[in-house]
Amino acid sequence: MFIHKPILLDPVLTFLAGQQEEVLLVDATLGEGGHAEAFLSSNPRLVLVGIERDRQIIDRARERLDRFGRRARLFRMDFLEFFSSVAELVDRSPQCIFFDLGVSMFHYQASGRGFSFRRSEPLDMRLDSEKDETAAQLIATSSEEELKSLIRRFGEERFAAAISAAIVAERKKGAIEDSQALARIVWNAVPPAYRHGRIHPATRTFQALRIAVNGELDLLEATLPLAFDSLSVGGRMGVISFHSLEDRIVKRFFQERNKSCTCPSESPICQCGGQRRARILTRKPIFAAEAEIRANPASRSARFRILEKIV
Ligand SMILES: C[S@@+](CC[C@H](N)C(=O)[O-])C[C@H]1O[C@@H](n2cnc3c(N)ncnc32)[C@H](O)[C@@H]1O
Repeated sequence: MFIHKPILLDPVLTFLAGQQEEVLLVDATLGEGGHAEAFLSSNPRLVLVGIERDRQIIDRARERLDRFGRRARLFRMDFLEFFSSVAELVDRSPQCIFFDLGVSMFHYQASGRGFSFRRSEPLDMRLDSEKDETAAQLIATSSEEELKSLIRRFGEERFAAAISAAIVAERKKGAIEDSQALARIVWNAVPPAYRHGRIHPATRTFQALRIAVNGELDLLEATLPLAFDSLSVGGRMGVISFHSLEDRIVKRFFQERNKSCTCPSESPICQCGGQRRARILTRKPIFAAEAEIRANPASRSARFRILEKIV
């Protein structure tokens, strides 16, 4: 019934769920509630606050977590909105915060919103259907330069120039509103040798559009400091990311909090008090083992980092 397999479940539970002690855990990316169900099952004194931006998927999580009653409190909003008013929404500081970034298997396989280049679906890609413009609108209204820059930046796609030129040429013939139609345009735009690589040639373009439509990187960057501030002293923040753009933001943020002085380098004297706020528990990120990758190929690119707040 549930499509998404929770990733890196063992280390996530080990670092974040606690044993028998009381834990308030914020699952900031609830999805279908796979990790959430495991958190709640593994520690009977854990209370979970689940945040999810997507209305369709939070309903599935609600059904799954129903049996935990008041131990699971769910909010349909984005995580920036939540951490911006966390003190009004929960009555104490969480001991643990968990992010499992990106989208869910549900989005690719069952949402019907054009996340997958393998299906013919409306090019929507919004996680929150009440907000933002769709991928089709973004494609229709961006200049070639803007498309090139977003495909390069959010997709790290080396053929961004050729792809954006092809998109602009095709949209003159008619609106690009279907995911498979877009995948075909990308396929035809890239050199033949690139078409049969390890990943489908449209993978990076689709990633870039999804990130742009949902403002994913800006939201993450703005949310991490607020989430950290809300954490209780001794508490932990764990983040699973799936590509280097997300991971870079997480890694930089963790390093920043791990340093004793966070003043800008041009500042001649320390003004921040020089107090180290946190320690990194994972010098190197945790990756999925071969067996997990075989059972769940989506775990191949997952990286899990954990930070502990000390002040
Ligand atoms: C990888 S899935 C989480 C899967 C979940 N851990 C599980 O085991 O079922 C990520 C989820 O985060 C949601 N999401 C992405 N960005 C979000 C944001 N800014 N605020 C809240 N939820 C977000 C997505 O809609 C998606 O359902």
